[in-house]
Amino acid sequence: MDKLLIRGGRRLVGEVRISGAKNAALPELCAALLTDEPVVLHNVPRLQDVATMLKLVRNMGVTAERDDNGTVRLDAADLTNPEAPYELVKTMRASVLALGPLVARFGHARVSLPGGCAIGSRPVDQHIKGLTAMGAEIRVEHGYMVAGLQPGLKRLRGARITTDMVTVTGTENFLMAAALAEGETILENAAQEPEIPDLAEMLIKMGAKIEGHGTSRIRIQGVERLHGCEHTVVADRIEAGTFLCAVAAAGGSVLLLGARAEHLDAVTDKLRDAGATVAEVPGGLRIEAAGRLKAQSFRTTEYPGFPTDMQAQFMALNVIAEGTATVAETIFENRFMHVNELLRLGARIQTDGKVAVIEGVPQLSGATVMATDLRASASLVIAGLVAEGETLVDRIYHLDRGYDRMEAKLRALGADIERVPGARA
Ligand code: UD1
Repeated sequence: MDKLLIRGGRRLVGEVRISGAKNAALPELCAALLTDEPVVLHNVPRLQDVATMLKLVRNMGVTAERDDNGTVRLDAADLTNPEAPYELVKTMRASVLALGPLVARFGHARVSLPGGCAIGSRPVDQHIKGLTAMGAEIRVEHGYMVAGLQPGLKRLRGARITTDMVTVTGTENFLMAAALAEGETILENAAQEPEIPDLAEMLIKMGAKIEGHGTSRIRIQGVERLHGCEHTVVADRIEAGTFLCAVAAAGGSVLLLGARAEHLDAVTDKLRDAGATVAEVPGGLRIEAAGRLKAQSFRTTEYPGFPTDMQAQFMALNVIAEGTATVAETIFENRFMHVNELLRLGARIQTDGKVAVIEGVPQLSGATVMATDLRASASLVIAGLVAEGETLVDRIYHLDRGYDRMEAKLRALGADIERVPGARA
């Protein structure tokens, strides 16, 4: 397993290009399942999760090719096997995004249940509830969701769906299914994360009739068929936020090319309060930071609140800031797994359930630490950039799932970071 070796203490200076968003690319690859015409996606990030999703759709009979410029061409005309096997779903929960499009287009599908996940139990009950309201009949059999249509139905039908909580991939599944359902669907309590309007815009290019995307109430008029389209994946706000935190922690001056300031307000407001200078400039966002910043308390909430996917990275910044901060994680249980590893670097953190209290220390000292999930890994990399001496981050396959060549991008900004190839697992 590969590791990352970081020698801390370098400032970050220069420009970094932000890649396409993982959490937009994954549903958009699944949206291609809705049509028998070719779909072209640009700005698809080079990530393990994208590779897994391409494997998943190829396994169904879809032709999917990617070039070196981040363009993926998909053709689901000959999709013969509407199934997502456990071997692929277990490594990537987002595989559940195949369920909505498959049932909508074929009237049946077989998708493995995701199983355990490092950041909490993360059930799919809401996905099942919503699709059932639209006329699907879903049984759980041998670890699989086996979906068909309720008796008498030839395709899914529109419905009013109010989920018990805001769910991002749930909203996306319903949006894709409703695009091909008969009649009108209204999604109440819909997620508003920027990846949802990006998916909706793609579906509209395919001929879908959608209104209200980006708000908590989305209205979809189903159509009989969707056609091919060409779409560019929106910039990854979480990758951008991660680089912002890295610069705020290590100090320096960096231009984030392609970053969308309007998607990052909750994070940039906190960074400004901490003492960094963050400015929207033509083509992206610029951040400048020097010295120890001031610790910032926050609680994670749905968009436009502070993203749970930025909690670990901002905690790494708090760890070496001046003062004490309280961080509350309200979206996922068990999302503080980076805490024990940060402690190994000399951090002072106390957790009690979903709340962590961080007392900033002036310096961290490098150590061997273990990545436990995607964003936890990014937090350890940020801590390694500021720690004195060498930090070795083990199990970085988590990082590769969701970051496009992170160490190469950091190295280009002046970080002393290298990948140490390990024996194959
Ligand atoms: C998506 C993102 C992930 C992010 C998360 C929250 C993708 C591919 N992943 O994950 O990076 O951290 O949003 O912003 O876009 N829940 C249920 N039942 C369900 C569905 C969800 O109880 O059927 C719960 C979850 O356990 C969690 C909360 O609802 O506590 C929100 O989860 P959800 O928004 O669905 O997360 P994902 O869509 O899986």
